[in-house]
Amino acid sequence: MRISVIGCGYLGAVHAVCMADIGHDVVGLDVDDLRVASLAAGVAPFHEPGLPEMLSRNVAAGRLRFTTDATLIADADLHFIAVGTPQLEGQLGADMRYVSAALDTVLAHAEDRPADRPAVVVGKSTVPVGTAQALAERIAADGNNLILAWNPEFLREGYAVDDTLHPDRIVYGLPVDIPAGTAARKLLDECYAPQVAAGTPVVVANYATAELVKVAANSFLATKISFINSMAELCDATGGDVTRLAEAIGYDDRIGAKFLQAGIGFGGGCLPKDIRAFMARAQELGVDEALTFLREVDAINLRRRHHAVQLAESAVGGSLEGRNIAVLGITFKPDTDDLRDSPALDIADQLLGRGAHVVVVDPAAGAELRRRRPDLDVADTVTEAVTGADVVMVLTPWKEYVELDPAALLSLVATPTIIDGRNVLDPHRWHDAGWNYHGMGRGVSTW
Ligand code: UDX
Repeated sequence: MRISVIGCGYLGAVHAVCMADIGHDVVGLDVDDLRVASLAAGVAPFHEPGLPEMLSRNVAAGRLRFTTDATLIADADLHFIAVGTPQLEGQLGADMRYVSAALDTVLAHAEDRPADRPAVVVGKSTVPVGTAQALAERIAADGNNLILAWNPEFLREGYAVDDTLHPDRIVYGLPVDIPAGTAARKLLDECYAPQVAAGTPVVVANYATAELVKVAANSFLATKISFINSMAELCDATGGDVTRLAEAIGYDDRIGAKFLQAGIGFGGGCLPKDIRAFMARAQELGVDEALTFLREVDAINLRRRHHAVQLAESAVGGSLEGRNIAVLGITFKPDTDDLRDSPALDIADQLLGRGAHVVVVDPAAGAELRRRRPDLDVADTVTEAVTGADVVMVLTPWKEYVELDPAALLSLVATPTIIDGRNVLDPHRWHDAGWNYHGMGRGVSTW
């Protein structure tokens, strides 16, 4: 099939590469010259395991092109819209101007097709519910032989290739018009033929449901994390250990063990902005009470960052002024170089705001951080970062930090105090090596 992917940011680039790897003929379109040049040369412009090999292989095979020239999307059977919907400056809602511009591009450049061979515009971006209906009306008004479908994406950074090729489920939001919906479904099934053949559940719904599935899933995940973080607050107040509590409740498969890792909370380009945009949309729809709980989810999440700063403050016995703090890990989670809404970066900023001298180290984001944040001291190695530190904070659970040898670091620091912002270190191992260990809701336990 011929496929165009409009928007080659994180979601679009991964989708374009994976669709080419399935065997489709793919054109990725973006307005950013540098990004397009990098992708066209087979070089991934961001860190994602497995992507570079797949990208260069498919570019070399001639199945995958990247361009800024919108005329090249003309003959695509499917036009995927994968542009960003960032949080509006100073507001909770999402900025929809890129989605709107992407549809303008398709309407301006998609070729006229015979009645029996429609093309499908496939929305992938996370949007406020109701967007698809409005876009479908614009398409209908244009009189082009295009059908709109909504096909949300659930990929996680760090696992994006695998999540795209082996999704848990595929959701098709289709028009209520039966012939149009049937035609769109046929093309989507053809596009995802390997996944459908592998038995991936396909959920077919109307536009609103398909849009809601995405934000409902992210809201549930955010709620799960904030739930366990609220239990961490209870553990701190009572001497309980939230990691044991999570393990114990997680054995109940109605609850499930995943997404119960307490710590400094969630960040990234999706969960925080999606729950805020969802609340804003509920308000517009007059049903804001239905999502009041998400306000609490957001508040608990932001409290975790503040709590980590307070832990550092109490560890040094009061003021952080002039204290040396080493921050290990700055991305919002491991195996990505993404700094969007990173809890670790926010904590580093709060420490700086309290007069601490902060040295940051990260396996993937160091260079980008140096470029963007000249006010931060960025080290190349853990050894460099922790030398002379009054407090060491592990804020992103990169494997190399989880596996650090506490004994080897002991002689480098000024004071052996470690704050485990993700509850990923073994408290006993660090304690036995001579460190003051502080977790996030881990109480004091000898078990
Ligand atoms: C998320 C959703 O998982 C994905 O389905 C959706 O398509 C996009 O948003 P992603 O942003 O890549 O994916 O990150 P995810 O792995 O979900 O982690 C989000 C944040 O939650 C990270 O900051 C992570 O550190 C944090 N987290 C995750 C916790 O604090 N505790 C947990 O138990 C799990």
